[in-house]
Amino acid sequence: MAVIENIIERCDAQRHSAPGAVLSGLPTELYTSEAVFDREQERVFARNWTLIGFAHELATPGTCIPVTAGGQPLLIVSNEAGEIGVFHNVCRHRGLKLVDKPCNVKQSITCPYHAWSYGLDGALEAAPHFGGFRIQEVPGFSRADNGLVPVRHVVWHDWIFVNISGDAPSFEEYSRPFAEQMKLLDTSKLRPIGKIDLGEVKCNWKFLMENFIEPYHVPIVHDETAAGQPLKDHYTISNGVCLGSGVDLEDQKNTTAQSSHLDMSARYLTMFPNFVLGIYLPDQAGVHLNIPVGPDRTRQFRVLYSVGEQHYTDESKKALCALWYDVHKEDHAIAELLQEGRTSSVMRDGGVMSPHWEDSAHGFQQLVVDALRG
Ligand code: FES
Ligand SMILES: [Fe+2]
Repeated sequence: MAVIENIIERCDAQRHSAPGAVLSGLPTELYTSEAVFDREQERVFARNWTLIGFAHELATPGTCIPVTAGGQPLLIVSNEAGEIGVFHNVCRHRGLKLVDKPCNVKQSITCPYHAWSYGLDGALEAAPHFGGFRIQEVPGFSRADNGLVPVRHVVWHDWIFVNISGDAPSFEEYSRPFAEQMKLLDTSKLRPIGKIDLGEVKCNWKFLMENFIEPYHVPIVHDETAAGQPLKDHYTISNGVCLGSGVDLEDQKNTTAQSSHLDMSARYLTMFPNFVLGIYLPDQAGVHLNIPVGPDRTRQFRVLYSVGEQHYTDESKKALCALWYDVHKEDHAIAELLQEGRTSSVMRDGGVMSPHWEDSAHGFQQLVVDALRG
């Protein structure tokens, strides 16, 4: 632990620079160390509001989706009324991970080990033969005390967030700076039109977040896919837990799903720690979910949304998924090289960042350091 305190001290020492002066990146250990990764799970992901899934995937009662957040197995469940619950995904008997794959359990969740079964509300309904053959009762054992352990959660639009520690500020308060930036999106008209599984990216989760936040790379890395978004029209956004960038095109083309390029005004917004929303005016949005798997591994998904009444044919949905797959792969290639760069002793202290284009990414890094300090 002294090692982590030492890293935090180094971050603090580099933190203050004159306004407009060059900024420092984060030391290498923040992207490579198992100890830092473990502490992030607890202090960054378990103590804040972390994105874990998409409500539209749980429209059918009985749907169960296992996820990982804060390094722990969680289970998202849709009850008889279609309401979403989140529980720790462990059987209260011997601690087996209860649900391993997305499925529909109909009315109850049964443990594959000794067949304890839980209702969709998490209540333990049966502990067969626990006290002897055909006897469930055991002195001192109460089924009421052994239901699945609920996790504090909210469903906000299509997005499911958890606060595992249970003591973060209310979601409303926490998300206020983000909601402020999101106002230009008519969320009542959001419709999911596709999901892309981007697989496991060989980099630390923070490289993907930072890459989304800073606009500096866009005209270079996405020189074809984002040819219509020149650097001069970009600016950064920093407001508490909301960090990102915007691009307001002087010459807004009315890009639709049929387009194979990004040439519209847009907002690239993140809410600490892992919520990522792209708004592509006037009628598209996308959310991606980054799940840290290890210091140098991150799983990523993206859900695409239409905003408004526009009809998307199967063909146009496919084209849009293909465009976004390409854009993400361009970013992944860069993020993986950033990870490899951190094996060099030259980058031990984290390099330098532009006060103009990378101040919001730097703000994200400071939130990470503050969270680690706890
Ligand atoms: S571990 Fe689940 S029923 Fe025994
Ligand atoms: Fe990018």
